[in-house]
Amino acid sequence: MTVRVDIDGSVALITIDNPPVNVTGLAVRQGLMAALDQVEAAGVARVILTGTGKTFVAGADAREFGVEPLAPHLPEIVARIERFAVPVIAAINGAALGGGLELALGCRMRIAAPQATLGLPEVTLGVVPGAGGTQRLPRLIGIADAVALISEGRVIRAAEALDLGMVDAVEEDPVAAACSLSVEKLTECSAIVDLPAPRADDQAVETARRSAARRLRGQVAPDIAIALVAGSATWPPETGLAEERAAFLKLRSSDQAAALRHVFFTERKAMAQGRDGGAEIDTAVIVGGGTMGAAISYALAQVGVTTALVETDAAGADRAHANVAKLYSEAVSRGKSTPEAADTALAERHSFHVGFEALPEAQIAIEAVFENLDVKRGVFAALDSALSGDAILATNTSYLDPNAIAEGLSNPSRFLGLHFFSPAHLMKLVEVVRAKQTTPDTLATVLRLTARLKKIPVLAGVCDGFIGNRILTRYRQICDVMLIEGALPAQVDAAMRGFGMAMGPYEVQDLSGLDIAYANRKRLGWATKPGHRYIAIADRIVDETGRLGRKTGAGWYDYGDKRTPSALIEEMVVAESVRSGISRRTFSADEIVARATAAMAEEGLRILQEGIADTAADIDLVLVHGYGFPRWRGGPMHSAERQGLPGLLTSIEEFAAEDPLSWSVPDILRRAVAEGLPLADLTRKP
Ligand code: NAI
Repeated sequence: MTVRVDIDGSVALITIDNPPVNVTGLAVRQGLMAALDQVEAAGVARVILTGTGKTFVAGADAREFGVEPLAPHLPEIVARIERFAVPVIAAINGAALGGGLELALGCRMRIAAPQATLGLPEVTLGVVPGAGGTQRLPRLIGIADAVALISEGRVIRAAEALDLGMVDAVEEDPVAAACSLSVEKLTECSAIVDLPAPRADDQAVETARRSAARRLRGQVAPDIAIALVAGSATWPPETGLAEERAAFLKLRSSDQAAALRHVFFTERKAMAQGRDGGAEIDTAVIVGGGTMGAAISYALAQVGVTTALVETDAAGADRAHANVAKLYSEAVSRGKSTPEAADTALAERHSFHVGFEALPEAQIAIEAVFENLDVKRGVFAALDSALSGDAILATNTSYLDPNAIAEGLSNPSRFLGLHFFSPAHLMKLVEVVRAKQTTPDTLATVLRLTARLKKIPVLAGVCDGFIGNRILTRYRQICDVMLIEGALPAQVDAAMRGFGMAMGPYEVQDLSGLDIAYANRKRLGWATKPGHRYIAIADRIVDETGRLGRKTGAGWYDYGDKRTPSALIEEMVVAESVRSGISRRTFSADEIVARATAAMAEEGLRILQEGIADTAADIDLVLVHGYGFPRWRGGPMHSAERQGLPGLLTSIEEFAAEDPLSWSVPDILRRAVAEGLPLADLTRKP
C-alpha cells in the first residue's frame, strides 16, 4: 500500500509510503483520494498526514515528467484536503519539496520535525509549482519571502521555515504533536485560501526579477513564477490557481524544462555510479601542492580523508601548506567553518612532505604536478616504490596521455586519470579517465571516492583533452576560423554569452591564460598539422605581444579599470585575414552561435564514435559542469538533438562544402540520421 490509513478513536493518520522518497505518483494520488474517502466515512475529528522514512513527500514522480499525468491530479487533492470536513494537519517528518510542500500548504496546520527541509524547487527543473504553491505560500508568509524562495527554488530547514511562518511548530515527533493539539487551537486555524490576499510588494518582486536575471540568466520559468506570486496579491484564489496550473502545463512541455530534466537525471545517474562496490578510501597522497593539488587535498580532508601532500623542496612544501591554509581561511570568512575547526582540520588531516622517503601509507595517490610528461613519469616511478602495491595511482593531467604517463609502472591496472576542474574543491565535475589497463575494481573504488566527495564523475577514455578539453579545443578552433573570416573577439564573446554560455571563449582564455592553449598547440604541432586549418592569431598574440590574459593585464582584451576590446588585437585579426588573402565578411550573432554549437556537437559525436564517452548525456554533463554551457539548453548534444540531427547534418555539410579543412560529417551522425536513432541509442559498446 502506497498510502496507509490508521484510525485511532477520533484521529486518522494517513501515511504516504512510497519508497524511496514518497513521490506523488499515480498510485499515491489515487491512494490519497481513497484514504480521504475512508476517513470521511469513519467520521473522525482530525486527520494527520505524514510520510515514512526520511521524507514527507519529495515531489512529483520523475517518470511522469515527460508524459500527460493521469487523474486524480495533485491540485484536486490539495483542494480536497483544504476543504475537508475536519482539519487536516501536515506532520512534516522530513523533506517536503515541490508537490510535497503544496500538499502541506493545503493542510490547516503544519508541524515539522527539526530535520525536515521545505521548498518549491520547480524552477530548477524549468517549471513553476503546479498545485497552488505560488498562490498559497505568499498568502501564508507574504510576497517578499515567497517570491525569493520560489524564484530561486531554494530549499530551507525547518527552523527557517518556522521563522518565516511557513510551519506552525517544530517538534521532535510531529505526528504526536499533531495528535495532542487542542481542539481550540485547531479551530483557530483557517485554510490558507481563506486568509486575506497578501499585500503587494513591488520592490520585492523587482529584486527577485533582477536576481533571477543575473543568477538564472536565460531561463523563463523564474520570471513566470515571480509574476504568479506577484499576482496572488490581486487575484481571487481560484483565478491564481488557474493561472498557475496553465503556466505549469505549458512550461512542462517546453524545451527548457526538457533540457533541465535531462541534466538533472544525467547528474543523478552519474552520482549513483559510486553507490555500490569499490573500497573505502581514508588515506591519500597528493603530489604537487599548487592550485589543483592544494584544492584536491582540501576537498578530500573535508570528507574525512587524511592527506599527505608532497612537494620537491621545503619552499614548495611551505607554499603548499599556505595554499591549503588559504582555502580553510576562505571557508572561515564565508562562514562555512570556524577558526578552531579549520585549525584542527588543517593540523589533523593534512601533512606536508618533501620528497617521497617518509610518506605515510596511502590507498590512493593523486598527482597534480607541472603538465610535463617526464616530470609526471618521475613522480609515478617514485610513488610506485613508496606506496604499497595496491594503492591506486591517479593523474590530474589535462592533456597528456595517461597511457604514456603509466609506462613502466609495476601494476598499471590500478592507474587512471582523475581530471578535476579548478577550483577543485568547488567544481563538481571530475572526468574519470580509463587508461589502457585500468581495471573495473580500480574504477569502482575511485567512483566510490567521488561519490563521497559529492562530485559528478564522468567516465572518459584516453584522447587528447579527454571529453571536455577536446570539445573546448574544437570550439575555440572554429571561433578562430570565424575571426579570420570576419568576426571580432568581442563579437564572438557577446554572441556566445547571448546563447547562454557563462562566458565567451576569448574572455575565458584571458582568464585562464593564453599560454596553456599555446603550449598545447605547439605540442600538437598545429602550425604544420596536415589536414588542419591553422589560424595563427592566438599564437601571434603570445609570440609577438606577450599578452597572456588577465595575469599580464592584457590578452584578447585590454584590462584597465574594466575590460575593453583591444584595438591592437583587432588590428592583428584583420591583418591576419589580409595576410591569408581572405576578404572579411560580416557574421550575425546567430551564425556565430550556429557554427560554434555545431562544432561542439560534431566533436561530441566523434567522441561518442570513438567510445571516449559512454553516452551523449555524459558529454552534456561535462560541458554544463565544466565549461559554462547553459544548463537550460541541456548541453551541446541534447541541444543539437532537440533542434534536430538532420538539420545538424545539413549545416555541417554546408560548412564543409565551404571549408573542408575545418569541417566534416562524423559517420555516426550520418548513421543516426539515416536510421532515425536518438543519441541515447548511440552508447559505447563495452
Ligand atoms: P601549479 O603550477 O599550480 O602546481 C604544480 C605544483 O607541483 C607546484 O606547487 C610544484 O612545486 C609542484 N611540483 C612540480 N614538480 C613536482 C614534483 N616532481 N614533485 C612534487 N611536486 C612537484 O599547477 P596546477 O595548475 O595545480 O596544475 C597541476 C596539474 O593539474 C597539471 O597537470 C594541470 O594540467 C592539471 N590541471 C590544472 C587545472 C587548472 O585549472 N589549473 C585544471 C585541471 C587539471
